Amino acid sequence: MMETDLRVLALIGYCLIASHSTAEQLSPQMIAMACRGCHISSSTQLMAVIEGQPKNLLINKLLDYKYGRINNTMMQRITLGYSDQELDALADYLSRQTLQP
Ligand code: HEC
Repeated sequence: MMETDLRVLALIGYCLIASHSTAEQLSPQMIAMACRGCHISSSTQLMAVIEGQPKNLLINKLLDYKYGRINNTMMQRITLGYSDQELDALADYLSRQTLQP
């Protein structure tokens, strides 16, 4: 009985560790949801359009914001929350999205 309990606990522990390590890099789809509060995916928006822009333009902008080469407090705070790899994957993802009418 006791032994079974320990095995169950060990299994739960393993699952927690395994799920934690796979969650470290956020998916571009997930990150993009945080962008759409401001950059609404619609041609009627007033904010800059981020979907369907060339990937290298997007990644350069995002890294410029992150490292303060473009001065924008809001975008700097946001981009500082993600690794360069996550931003690269995000730029790649966004460049392949189409703008909703
Ligand atoms: C709190 C609002 C807000 C959120 C959330 C936000 N942005 Fe921005 N973003 C701005 C503002 C403000 C600017 C500068 C004004 C502009 O260019 O429209 C900007 C500018 C940009 C630009 C430059 C546009 C250009 O053509 O010069 C890009 C690219 C961009 N954001 C991408 C993103 C991405 C990707 C995310 C999600 C990780 C994001 N933004 C989240 C507010 C936001």
